[in-house]
Amino acid sequence: MAPLSLYSLVSLVYGVARVVADLPLLETYADYNDGVFGTRPNQSYYSSDLISPRFQVNVWNKSASTVGSHIFLAPGIPGQGRSPMILDSKDLSLVYADPKWDGGTDTRMQVYNGTQYLTFWSGVDWKGHGSGGGMMIDPSYRLFKNITTSNLDTGADSHDFHLTNDGGAIMNNYHTIFADLTSVNGPVNAEVLDCAFQEVDIATGEVRFTWKASDHFDWAENLADGYVPDQQHGWDWFHMNAISKTVEGNYLISIRHLRTVALINGTDGSRIWQVGGVHNSFLDLSDGKATNFAFQHDARFVNSSQTEITLFDNHNMHTNSPTSGCSVDCTRGLRIALDYDAMTVKVVSELYHPQSVQAWAQGGYHLLPNGNVVIGWGVVPAFTEFTSTGEVIMDIQIRPWDSVPDGGGPLYRVYKLDWVGEPTWSPSIAFVDPNVYVSWNGATKVASWSLSGGASHISLEHLVTVPKNGFETAIAPPKPVSFVRVDALDADGNVIGTTNVVDTSSGDSVGSIIRG
Ligand SMILES: *[C@@H]1O[C@H](CO)[C@@H](O)[C@H](O)[C@H]1NC(C)=O
Ligand SMILES: *[C@@H]1O[C@H](CO)[C@@H](O)[C@H](O)[C@H]1NC(C)=O
Ligand SMILES: *[C@@H]1O[C@H](CO)[C@@H](O)[C@H](O)[C@H]1NC(C)=O
Ligand SMILES: *[C@@H]1O[C@H](CO)[C@@H](O)[C@H](O)[C@H]1NC(C)=O
Ligand SMILES: *[C@@H]1O[C@H](CO)[C@@H](O)[C@H](O)[C@H]1NC(C)=O
Ligand SMILES: *[C@@H]1O[C@H](CO)[C@@H](O)[C@H](O)[C@H]1NC(C)=O
Repeated sequence: MAPLSLYSLVSLVYGVARVVADLPLLETYADYNDGVFGTRPNQSYYSSDLISPRFQVNVWNKSASTVGSHIFLAPGIPGQGRSPMILDSKDLSLVYADPKWDGGTDTRMQVYNGTQYLTFWSGVDWKGHGSGGGMMIDPSYRLFKNITTSNLDTGADSHDFHLTNDGGAIMNNYHTIFADLTSVNGPVNAEVLDCAFQEVDIATGEVRFTWKASDHFDWAENLADGYVPDQQHGWDWFHMNAISKTVEGNYLISIRHLRTVALINGTDGSRIWQVGGVHNSFLDLSDGKATNFAFQHDARFVNSSQTEITLFDNHNMHTNSPTSGCSVDCTRGLRIALDYDAMTVKVVSELYHPQSVQAWAQGGYHLLPNGNVVIGWGVVPAFTEFTSTGEVIMDIQIRPWDSVPDGGGPLYRVYKLDWVGEPTWSPSIAFVDPNVYVSWNGATKVASWSLSGGASHISLEHLVTVPKNGFETAIAPPKPVSFVRVDALDADGNVIGTTNVVDTSSGDSVGSIIRG
């Protein structure tokens, strides 16, 4: 159980009706990184079994303009698994989590047929790749679609679940094949982890396009370690981690172990061009800095003009140093411009973590509509928002730098997007003397909470209305009452949800009320 925050205590002492149940954000860099709050700082609640991370705020300029009402991530919490999580952008308070979704990589909002869905991957994770499906959850948190690949040996992989603009869903896939690897000093009949992707029509389930890496790329293009025997499910030679479709129907793919981003022809699957890698097609006008990205993630065209690409350049591998303060081979967010007439490429911008970090794995680059960028630093437990000119306006740590992410997960990608959630379930209430605690997992429209109480559970009268503040709001009843209930009010004062009635002598629920 979470202790009362300092603010709560102060509020009680001064007799303020509303107290805050969420613990305050931390701004104690040294203590946080010295482990004073544990290796996984977290917070629990009275009215909910959920646990959420306790963040360290390193930079936050709240007056800087930004967009996106919510932050989407899947931090992985021990006991709660790796599942989708939504935070409120204005105060980082928990908005939604549900451990029942086994997975959560690539958690975000995507629009399909005019409706916003919460989308993410769920399935079996084999550390580095997986097999499962892409989930589409409607704004009431009901499963709308669970989509996977067909006629491949495994299901959708954990790296990417990307909706197209024409009603399709693109899924990545990792599966084992056997191949002659003598050209790269491997055996004649070697086990190889091949990559594929598939586009499926969301409405009909029909497969629109299937593409396999080994049909179009050579083993010798691997720019990781060359052939490595005895890897789980085979030599991970390709490692595709992002796929998106262009308006012309081609596909931009990010291939980590080839250190390249390639445009794939959506008709015959051939390579139209690639930037970086063994067969780089572009002359680098930035002294090699536009093409020397390595082990990258999340490569996307900036827009339909396809003249610029953003990506998360891990830039190193086989290090395990999630600490800050690197001096060489630091990880960066990279934006490059392509000129298809001259076949040149140049750096538009590089975004480094304010303290310089090396993220050997994972990571994402989310370009916001106003030009700001949100970077989730992968295995480095932080996310940062930059303005379009590169100024850091938010830098948040989710764990101490050098804590090992056991039992949870790194921040694969972090997105900032608008979201409206209207759960089918009711708000939750708990009475822990002397306060009533209330929360509503997933609800985004609650503006205030109205507390009613009385001597009998069938005659409750309105006592006080307080603004919602954070995930869980504590309300001190202004007078002793035997039974309490809380109504959720929207910004117009309409009741949009009602908790059970609770007996304050036992803390037990006596059921829900029936409205006349
Ligand atoms: C939450 O933090 C406490 C205190 O450091 C720690 O003992 C506990 O294991 C953490 N719980 C989770 C789920 O990380
Ligand atoms: C915060 O952002 C505003 C608006 O972009 C800017 O004017 C101000 O200088 C920033 N403050 C700090 C402390 O960086
Ligand atoms: C898209 O939404 C419209 C309007 O709600 C509906 O009539 C139509 O069936 C939907 N199309 C698909 C493919 O789901
Ligand atoms: C999605 O569908 C697959 C079967 O295709 C099933 O194994 C899996 O449990 C489903 N996932 C969810 C979360 O319903
Ligand atoms: C894609 O492949 C088709 C069929 O081979 C070809 O006609 C078309 O020109 C190719 N497109 C590009 C952009 O290379
Ligand atoms: C697309 O991005 C390019 C490069 O940033 C920009 O010059 C162009 O105006 C953008 N086009 C659209 C349609 O947004």
